[in-house]
Amino acid sequence: MYTSKIIGLGKYVPENVVTNDDLAKLMDTNDAWIQERTGIKERRHIKKGDGNSTTIMGVKAATIALDRAKLLPDDIDMIVFATLSPDMYFPGGGVEVQHLMGMRTIAALDVRNQCSGFVYALSVADQFIKTGMYKNVLVIGSENHSGGLDLSSRGRGVSVIFGDGAGAAILSRSEDKTGILSTHLHSEGEHKDQLALQGPSTGYWVPEIIADNPQENIPYYPVMNGQFVFKHAITRFAEVINEGLEENELNVSDIDLLVPHQANLRISQMIQHKFKLTDDQVYNNIQRYGNTTAASIPIALTEAWEEGKVKDGDLVVLAAFGSGFTWGSVIIKW
Ligand code: COA
Repeated sequence: MYTSKIIGLGKYVPENVVTNDDLAKLMDTNDAWIQERTGIKERRHIKKGDGNSTTIMGVKAATIALDRAKLLPDDIDMIVFATLSPDMYFPGGGVEVQHLMGMRTIAALDVRNQCSGFVYALSVADQFIKTGMYKNVLVIGSENHSGGLDLSSRGRGVSVIFGDGAGAAILSRSEDKTGILSTHLHSEGEHKDQLALQGPSTGYWVPEIIADNPQENIPYYPVMNGQFVFKHAITRFAEVINEGLEENELNVSDIDLLVPHQANLRISQMIQHKFKLTDDQVYNNIQRYGNTTAASIPIALTEAWEEGKVKDGDLVVLAAFGSGFTWGSVIIKW
């Protein structure tokens, strides 16, 4: 069995910065409320005509990651693309990445696990490398939330949280034993309606939506039971981090850097407190980007790496929780 290692990271966020004060011009909210409950100060939104889409942002992040890995498009054996906001209902973004990056007719797989998407995608890529089937896998997390959010007061409980962006990692066969030590994935579909986008879908097509036209709970915008999600997130984050550490006979004191999915700064702080980690041991950038779902971990990991916070030999832990519910962790010896 081989080990897989992250050898290149990249990120891309749209230029358009949307502050809390900008949102307060569109809906009944304010900077103090958003910062106090979520820690978010600003996020990025794609601007109409700026040329970005979920796939395009993914390609931009992937191009940087590939360059840093010192690989060429021809070296990639598989694409795993995680998003909940694909450009089209089908096909998924992976195939367009293959085309736009001029890659061979390699495997392209889309992962739909929302905020846990990148952790799931990394785990999938890891399995293909471990078995020896592929040598280099491009893993992308990218989201275009802004176009699908209810930016009126009705949607304020959800729309202030999410932002657009993309991150990418090149996972490669490792000859030494460093790299991904283990991945841990979970789901609990009983709670699927607690954070969801109901339609348009095969369960709720456009004509039905138009016929119903409910004023209060429009199904083509995401809905979230915030407090319910919050409570479950705290529990599952802690469980799945512990699960990863135990599997590898490691302790919390062995963690050099925890990169949690950027769901809410309060969630990250509660996890930090629970594990008694210092500020230096937990990387957060939700303040600047909001929750970018499948893109949040690769964006954060890229920035942590760029800032020199991820060094050879470090124990890096990734953990995510989100809609589904799904959650997971990745334990990495860098
Ligand atoms: N601005 C101002 N007020 C707002 C608001 C906004 N953007 N959104 C909601 N409110 C109001 C509510 O209407 C409510 O008013 P009321 O008391 O008059 O009824 C009040 O603020 C409290 O709402 P509540 O939903 O109970 O707030 P909360 O403390 O639970 O915070 C979240 C809301 C969404 C920030 C919080 O629940 C959360 O972060 N949950 C987890 C979300 C998450 O991580 N999602 C991604 C999962 S990966």
